[in-house]
Amino acid sequence: MKIRFSKLELPKDGSLVVFALKGGDLLASAQAVDKALDGAVARAVAASRFKGGGGDALVLPSPGEGRWERVVLLGLGKPADFDALAAQNAGGRAATALNGAGAKSAALLLDPVDGGKIGGAEAAARAGFGARLRSYRFDRYRTKEKPDRKPTLARMTVGAPDAAAARKAFRPLDSLADGVFLTRDLVSEPPNIMYPETLAAQGEALRELGVEVEVLGEKEMRDLGMGSLLGVGQGSARESKLLVMQWKGGGAKEQPVAFIGKGVTFDTGGISIKPAAGMDDMKWDMGGSGVVIGLMKALAGRKAKCNAVGVAGLVENMPSGTAQRPGDIVTSMSGQTVEVLNTDAEGRLVLADALWYTQDRFKPKFMIDLATLTGAIIIALGNENCGLFSNNDELADRIAAAGKAVGERAWRMPLGDAYDKELTSDAADMKNIGGRGAGSITAAQFLQRFVNDVPWAHLDIAGVTWSKKDKPTAPKGGTGFGVQLLDRLVAEHYEA
Ligand code: BES
Ligand code: MN
Ligand code: ZN
Repeated sequence: MKIRFSKLELPKDGSLVVFALKGGDLLASAQAVDKALDGAVARAVAASRFKGGGGDALVLPSPGEGRWERVVLLGLGKPADFDALAAQNAGGRAATALNGAGAKSAALLLDPVDGGKIGGAEAAARAGFGARLRSYRFDRYRTKEKPDRKPTLARMTVGAPDAAAARKAFRPLDSLADGVFLTRDLVSEPPNIMYPETLAAQGEALRELGVEVEVLGEKEMRDLGMGSLLGVGQGSARESKLLVMQWKGGGAKEQPVAFIGKGVTFDTGGISIKPAAGMDDMKWDMGGSGVVIGLMKALAGRKAKCNAVGVAGLVENMPSGTAQRPGDIVTSMSGQTVEVLNTDAEGRLVLADALWYTQDRFKPKFMIDLATLTGAIIIALGNENCGLFSNNDELADRIAAAGKAVGERAWRMPLGDAYDKELTSDAADMKNIGGRGAGSITAAQFLQRFVNDVPWAHLDIAGVTWSKKDKPTAPKGGTGFGVQLLDRLVAEHYEA
């Protein structure tokens, strides 16, 4: 969908989106529409349950004497709650209502909100961003869909008090949406199409934006001693890859920030095979690497003034005659040995080598890894928060705050020696699983054994990478959770 910005004035025809506050007070444009329609908007409000709350919506089809095709009235909630996220969600809800009504184009008139937390240009840009995010659809493989089942909305013009300022504020958000869409595409692609080599090729495509990209194959990784990552992929007919991306938007001597993603393009569990029901979900077990690739696209797209490294460990976890066995002992790049007692605890084995490689080669300011690492984090936090684990309070606080601001929440979980002891092995330096309890924490402890003195955070995104429900700014399916959070973190704290 194309987003445009124009002056804040009532168009002659077409579909309109206007707003009301909690309690039902109409904003200026909604009042003007109401006046032009001889009070039809106020009458509709009175005849409905519309209260102006943050989720309320009212669609008036063909009101009045055929001037506008339809008028959509959306609630914004209380003025004091009107921030960037509220504006973004409003844009998303507008897109939902317009598609539901079959509109092809629309004008969204977002008047300044007195007592709100953001100004008119920023609010307009955020609304456009939210509308664009909500308009995403993965329909590449639906060849027989009837046109009348497809979303209709192709263009939205956002009216703002200062259209030029809104346009300027929208530019980086447009790049951010490009990044989010790439992440959603990558997690939505089926596992016969998206496997280590093809996922790496998606990273390579970012060269077009000025990202430096290297792809290491199994030979290079063997030479580096990455026995932990390679063990996971050894049962697959597909070659494992390590994707290394660098965006150099900062000073030549400036230490980079680093993002590391779990990229298991399909997780059968390996010889410790998973049950059949729901196994198809494991196509999005590369979600962490999907976020890293989408984030690099967003940073490069908006020419972020920082140095950023993205590393993705790409493997397919399959059972076969060459697969890793429970009981195997592998030697990681760090030199530490791991007894693999469950081949389904494979993400940590991949990240162990990817983390070590990243800190060793790039000496980053911090490392943040993202992984659909444990089912246990879904038991603990459901689908509302990702798990946040960190060895550094400042970094953890910044991540939590950024997540809150963009609506991608991260809840801090504990780490500690007592949990770490669960990983003690009789045969090697550690085993790859803990006991029955605290499965997400023992997984994080495992990762921490491959992190030296660098500030590090681990985001367990197993519960938030895929949604079974529509969200204000994401249709059900791949969410892209993490791209906005990390883009915000970088913009707020690590850019010149
Ligand atoms: N990829 C899974 C975790 C997962 C589960 C992600 C559900 C998304 C939805 C991971 O590789 C895994 O299998 N973890 C095991 C670890 C266990 C064997 C210690 C788990 O969570 O059961
Ligand atoms: Mn697994
Ligand atoms: Zn997995």
